Parts: sequence; C-alpha cells; structure tokens
Amino acid sequence: MLESTAKDRIGKMNQSERVLVTGGAGFIGSHLCQRLLARGSAVCCLDNFDPAYDPAIKERNLAAIAQKPSFLLVRGDILDPGALDEAFAFQPDTVIHLAALAGVRDSIAQPARTMLVNVVGTTNLLEACCRHGVRRFLFGSSSSVYGDRKQVPFSEEDRVDDPQSPYAASKKAGELACYSYHALYAMDITCLRFFTVYGPRQRPEMAIHRFVRAILAGQPVTLYGDGSSSRDYTYIDDCLDGITAALDRLEGYRLYNLGESVSIRLDRLVATIEAVTGKEAIRIYLPNQAGDVTTTFANIDRARRDLGYQPAVGIEQGIRSFVQWFQEQTGLTGQPPLSKE
Ligand SMILES: NC(=O)c1ccc[n+]([C@@H]2O[C@H](COP(=O)([O-])OP(=O)(O)OC[C@H]3O[C@@H](n4cnc5c(N)ncnc54)[C@H](O)[C@@H]3O)[C@@H](O)[C@H]2O)c1
Repeated sequence: MLESTAKDRIGKMNQSERVLVTGGAGFIGSHLCQRLLARGSAVCCLDNFDPAYDPAIKERNLAAIAQKPSFLLVRGDILDPGALDEAFAFQPDTVIHLAALAGVRDSIAQPARTMLVNVVGTTNLLEACCRHGVRRFLFGSSSSVYGDRKQVPFSEEDRVDDPQSPYAASKKAGELACYSYHALYAMDITCLRFFTVYGPRQRPEMAIHRFVRAILAGQPVTLYGDGSSSRDYTYIDDCLDGITAALDRLEGYRLYNLGESVSIRLDRLVATIEAVTGKEAIRIYLPNQAGDVTTTFANIDRARRDLGYQPAVGIEQGIRSFVQWFQEQTGLTGQPPLSKE
C-alpha cells in the first residue's frame, strides 16, 4: 500500500504528463527522471535497487531529485505484483521501461534470472499497463540484439536472429513482447535500441568507467581482444534527447537505433582517455570474452528522420565530461599530489 504521504503527494501533482520510469535509480533512468522533471512532468520511479552493482550508487543517483514535489520513488521489484500496483497508483499516462539486468557477462552467469527480470518483468509491465488503462509504452532495448554482425552500420531493417548472450536474447524477446501488446491491445509502443551509453553515473563495470578508474589510479587496464574491436558510444545527453523525442512522438509500434553513428576502436578509446587524463595506461591484453561482439555501429537515419534525433557529443568531449564527473566523485586527478610547502 502507498503511504498516506505518498498519496497526498500524488494528489497534489497536477502536471499534464505523468511518467512511470522503471529502473529510474540506475544510470540512464536517473538522468531521465531528472530530464523529465526539468520539462515539467510528474515522475514516478520504480526501482528495486538491485545489487548487480552497489545500491548506494543508485541512492546517490537520485539524491538531487528525491525531495522534488513532482517526484515519487517506489522501491520495489517489477516481478512483484504489489510493487506494480503501488507504482500504477501514480496513474501514469506513459511507462518508460528501463529496469533490467543490464550486463552481458552477468547474463551468462545468471541466464534464467536475466530472462526472468528482462522478459517476464517486461511482460508484467505491459500487463499492468493493460489493467490500468495505460496505452503508451517505451522500452529500453539494446544494440546487442544485432549480434556479431560484420555488415555495418546496423539498421532497424536488419534481421536480428543471432543474439550472442542471454542478455541480447532477453532484449529481443522484450521487443517481441512489446509488439504482441501493440498487436493485441493497440498500445502505442516504441522500442529504443541504445548503443553503449556513457557519461556521468555510467555503470561501474562498463568499459569507459573501468578504464578511467584504473588509469587515474595507476592500475593496469584489461583489454579483451587485440584492441581492434569497436563500439558506437552514445553520450547520455544525446540518448536522453532521443528518448524524449520518442516520448513526444509515440504512435503505433516503432523501433529506433539511438547511437552516435560513429564506431570507435578500443585502442583509440584508451588513447583518448590517456589524452584527456594526461596519464599513460598500463595495458593487459586478454582473449575476447564469451558474449562479446566485434563491432557495434548504428545507422540512425530513421531516428533522424522521424524523431529529429541529432546526436552532438563526440567521444573526446564526452570522455572529458565523464572524467570531470569521476574526479569530482572520487578526488582522483591522475596528477601527482601537490607538494605541501
Ligand atoms: N547503458 C547502456 O549502455 C545500455 C545499452 C543498451 C541498453 N541498455 C538498457 O537500458 C536500461 C538502463 O540501463 P543502465 O545502464 O541505466 O542500467 P542500470 O543497471 O544502471 O539501471 C537499471 C536499473 O534497473 C533496476 N532493476 C533491475 N532489476 C529490477 C527489478 N527486478 N525491479 C525493479 N528494478 C530493477 C536496477 O536497480 C537499476 O537501477 C536497461 O534496460 C539496459 O538493458 C543500456
């Protein structure tokens, strides 16, 4: 049951747009909640503070908005019907579903749990939308659905039948679940395939975060493969622009790539971090890991055309912002400490 204070808060929220963000305490979700509040929406975040990485980080992610009058936090699991009822008591007009177990490696270690949270959890949300009369749904999908494709850039028209991990399979299954609810109940649903999103608050196990942390601490950086693999890295602000543009144009069933449409080699990524931090990386090369793909590279013509999506933050600028944030968090500068007079 919702506490009476939460009910009072919901009653006082008179914003015309009411958005339920699942996974709203995570990296992308917390930025999204902030962006939506800034544009005048009422926002409910449903998150279980999953321990895949330190839940204290998620508490910090929400610190700036936790007390805002138009923000409501429901601590709960998308697998728990009681938590869903609590979140839908907020009476959202749109659900943006980002809650997931998001790691490829974790999904290989915990395949059934990944499927449960990412596929059954997504179905639970769609079902709850039907029960509560919510017809608008955005789903956070992933570039991983493209598998280990050599033909680039990846287009929404490509077949995506070769997932390389349970995570990738779960995202494809999530897209299919979305389609079935559009077909059955005429819900307006857009699936957004995010391409490696980075920026302040990025998950601690993701490459840019790991590399910056190691390089600034003077510790070795582990690189899988020979450095020639490549990723389309999307800066968080560009990703948010894509999500909000999709929110404003939700109609029918749509699928969009959200990337920068630039694929950066791993060795260039590390060199860029070295240049930005002014510190040399100690490189350790290991073989590719199971579940890894060689390249990701988004064709974003469809998002440009339909959503007016225009990613603007290049890798060097984005890494600069990330490093600045990281240093503010940790006090690590990568420079030798100033000698005391
Ligand atoms: N970050 C990326 O590069 C990227 C790329 C492609 C797709 N995505 C997708 O975008 C979404 C957000 O990714 P992120 O990087 O912000 O990850 P994140 O792990 O920081 O955020 C996910 C949030 O979901 C919550 N969550 C997990 N299981 C839950 C459950 N059972 N009930 C309620 N909440 C639960 C977690 O506590 C977390 O706060 C995910 O769906 C992810 O698969 C992310």
